[in-house]
Amino acid sequence: MLALKRFAMDLCLLPVFLLVDWRGPSLQFQSWIGETESATTDAGVHSRAQHSFGSENVQLERDYLFLHNWSDDELLQRAEEMELQLQLQGEGAPSSISDHDSATDKLNGGARGMPSKIAFLFLTTTGLALEPLWRRFFQGHEGLYNLYVHSDPSWLRYHGSHRNLGMFWGRTVPSAVTHRSDPDVVAAERRLIANALQDDRSNEWFVLVSDTCIPLLSFGSMYLRLNATSSSFIDCGKGAPGPMMMSRYRARGDQAMLPEVPFSEFRLGLQFFAIRRRHAVMVIRDRKYWPKFNQPCVRPACYPDEHYIQTVIGNLDEPACQGTPTFVSWNGSKGGHPQSFGREDITPNLIQALQASQNGRFLFARKFKRDALEPLLALDDLLFDRSNP
Ligand SMILES: *[C@@H]1O[C@H](CO)[C@@H](O)[C@H](O)[C@H]1NC(C)=O
Ligand SMILES: *[C@@H]1O[C@H](CO)[C@@H](O)[C@H](O)[C@H]1NC(C)=O
Ligand SMILES: *[C@@H]1O[C@H](CO)[C@@H](O)[C@H](O)[C@H]1NC(C)=O
Repeated sequence: MLALKRFAMDLCLLPVFLLVDWRGPSLQFQSWIGETESATTDAGVHSRAQHSFGSENVQLERDYLFLHNWSDDELLQRAEEMELQLQLQGEGAPSSISDHDSATDKLNGGARGMPSKIAFLFLTTTGLALEPLWRRFFQGHEGLYNLYVHSDPSWLRYHGSHRNLGMFWGRTVPSAVTHRSDPDVVAAERRLIANALQDDRSNEWFVLVSDTCIPLLSFGSMYLRLNATSSSFIDCGKGAPGPMMMSRYRARGDQAMLPEVPFSEFRLGLQFFAIRRRHAVMVIRDRKYWPKFNQPCVRPACYPDEHYIQTVIGNLDEPACQGTPTFVSWNGSKGGHPQSFGREDITPNLIQALQASQNGRFLFARKFKRDALEPLLALDDLLFDRSNP
């Protein structure tokens, strides 16, 4: 079954259709195994299926990466069980890549066993407007990364076509609706992590990015930078115990976090991270903090995505917290939204400034509007050929 799944995936011919909203009471997936098998006869042609959806007859043209219909709890449990099995077999994540002469050789050859991979977790609500830029970033590095996309189920239902998703097509994990300042954003992050964990034991880094993020260096340099530290890139500060931290801590009610999460354990950090496999496992194994952070907010000062994973890793492995890998600017911030860069902002100077920011420690930057794509593509040499510092 797994072999068939892999084979079908290679051919991009694995249609799975989400019939009902992911967390709905009658959650159900339907897979077209039979169709997949017959479709493999015309390999290369993306399968296109018609299915009646409720009373409407909607033409669906989208593939999901996974056939499973597991609830979030089942998914996390299975990821956890698989991790346990790997540990029992002494087969944790594969050892790092052996030394070679040049960086490129190190990446493309000389692997002892399977090379470690970067799992890119794309948290989006609609499509990935900057797909052509990412495609250039990933080009030539197949086998060293995996893509996972979480998006809005209704967007996927109507627009998740190959034309709209490009290289991300067929990389979608079963998704649910997310709302700003709601724990469902964190639920989506956990879902991405759990899917990626159980999908490929070679996934060693779990990198959260959004559709407005761009990479600030070449894939090869990024790989070396991630590999150069055994720890993770995530912000898990304690934060000043001022009114801002206190109001966020009490966003679910004055006593709502107690006793599991005393104020002294409540961490703060920007949402985007690049974490090691062992930290990803900590997040999905967590039973202590999640029920607390998953409570509905009763006050507006609620940003679970800036606290939950930060609290888990910050308390279980404090030295792992090496800061967020993603540049963001709060210049001219409005309504809590950071600065967005559009077409007219993209210059070589801007790119160099972002790359040099804080001693060049950032791997990604946000937020970029869709109209920034063209000028960014024109500067791809500057973006991706930066030598490893
Ligand atoms: C998933 O499918 C299996 C087999 O069809 C079924 O027994 C199970 O209840 C389903 N799980 C959910 C969460 O719907
Ligand atoms: C990755 O890190 C390990 C351990 O530090 C090192 O032995 C290996 O050479 C590194 N691989 C690359 C590609 O830099
Ligand atoms: C943000 O504003 C500061 C001060 O005005 C300036 O130095 C910096 O370059 C600005 N950053 C960006 C990314 O525009």
